Amino acid sequence: MPTQTSASTTTIVIFGATGDLTHRKLVPALYNLMRKGRLPTHINIVGYARREWSDDFFRERLLGGVKESLGDEFDAAEWEKFAPQLRYVRGDLNTREDFEGLQKALDEIEEGDANRLYYLSTAPNFYEPVAEHLTALDMFKEDEGYRRLVVEKPFGYDLGSARALNASLHHLLDEHQIYRIDHYLGKETVQNILFFRFANAIFEPIWNRNYVDSVQITVAEMVDVEHRGGYYDGAGVLRDMFQNHLMQLLSLVAMEPPASISADALRDEKVKVLTSLRSVTNNDIVVAQYDGYRETEGVAPDSQTPTYAMLKLFVDNWRWQGVPFYLRSGKALKHKVTEIVIEFGRPPHRMFKRARSKSFSPNALSICIQPDEGIHLSFETKVPDTGGDLQSANLEFHYKDSFSETAIPEAYERLLLDAMLGDASLFTRSDEIELSWSLIDSVFNHLNHAGGPEILNYPRLTWGPAEADARIAREGRSWRLGCLHVDDD
Ligand code: BG6
Repeated sequence: MPTQTSASTTTIVIFGATGDLTHRKLVPALYNLMRKGRLPTHINIVGYARREWSDDFFRERLLGGVKESLGDEFDAAEWEKFAPQLRYVRGDLNTREDFEGLQKALDEIEEGDANRLYYLSTAPNFYEPVAEHLTALDMFKEDEGYRRLVVEKPFGYDLGSARALNASLHHLLDEHQIYRIDHYLGKETVQNILFFRFANAIFEPIWNRNYVDSVQITVAEMVDVEHRGGYYDGAGVLRDMFQNHLMQLLSLVAMEPPASISADALRDEKVKVLTSLRSVTNNDIVVAQYDGYRETEGVAPDSQTPTYAMLKLFVDNWRWQGVPFYLRSGKALKHKVTEIVIEFGRPPHRMFKRARSKSFSPNALSICIQPDEGIHLSFETKVPDTGGDLQSANLEFHYKDSFSETAIPEAYERLLLDAMLGDASLFTRSDEIELSWSLIDSVFNHLNHAGGPEILNYPRLTWGPAEADARIAREGRSWRLGCLHVDDD
């Protein structure tokens, strides 16, 4: 249950505030919320980290990030209003006295009762120590306003560590105080999946095994691991992208309609999907590395970490029995695109005999998550002035055309606002995290087992290993991307 509060001041404390996330995402999002009049009137944004920075230096750094993120939208006068609310407290994440110093600083800044949102933007090994220090100083007690903890990813490294982290957080504070971030859930187009499915009457009747042949989820990035080799080599695409973002997309596409959009009703339905996932076999897994990955700084010369993976999953329930869900994601791929394709079955009877069969494509609904946000539906049509040639045509909805006045907000705006409002529907619950880790762990069991899938290679800026195409082709299908309008895809 969200905590009700009468406190009129809200303080956001960002632990690890000198890191990238603060100036690239968090503070630009808060600045935008202020411009839109959505922040509480009395707000303090307090950065906490080890470096010897002053308030002014902290503000300077953040100003750079806000300017970069907003470009022409930046407004110096608005910044002048916003900046005084930013403070910096120097402290170590492992030292009790420094947390006492933080508590003292907060009491002075707040001048009375206040709500507090603690944001863990630190390396994961600090999550527990920070929460322990806050608990030891009674800083999670909700007598004078709410006390919430936002936890960034990665949440655990595998099922065992995620369980241990959940257990120790639950020992220190209540589940209703914990907000586990998956920034994909804050994306406008990801939120729209449920609106598209359940605010319309025409799609849901065909959203099942009777009409859907297969589902494809592609999360492709053009960037490689850049300067993050050290982190990435310990994670790889399965931990970095599948355990969180792709499993969330799958849950939203496959879940049953919840009775309401309350956080628990939604998350109960997502958990049912994750509970229904069939165990994977060797044949359901393709993993690969882009050429040159092992030369990256921080990456082991004999690294077996996949930068690309494809999984075939089945949701064993009444709605989806027998429908394959093909998931793929990778770095250094040909285009940046995140898309969910619902491919429908073929018409039961082929009466257009003259239609050239190779030109026939089953209907596909593409949910374009990014970058060209929208929804497209492809259908077959007769080519004019032919006896019966078929060609696919598209019905297209583009956010940029329909909502030209309204820019799509950054995911962090929604997430920070919801955390302040006490709405956890776009945050992951402990059981969701653990279930998706158990799937990823089972994939690793196959990879680490003698005779398991071998790690393949792929040239940069392609669609990944040829085996991923061959695998899906052997099942009579091909990858489809309806959101990209490029000649060479
Ligand atoms: C992050 C991953 O969670 O998501 C990154 O750690 C990845 O490796 C990023 O690049 C992708 O997010 P987006 O919003 O750009 O699709």
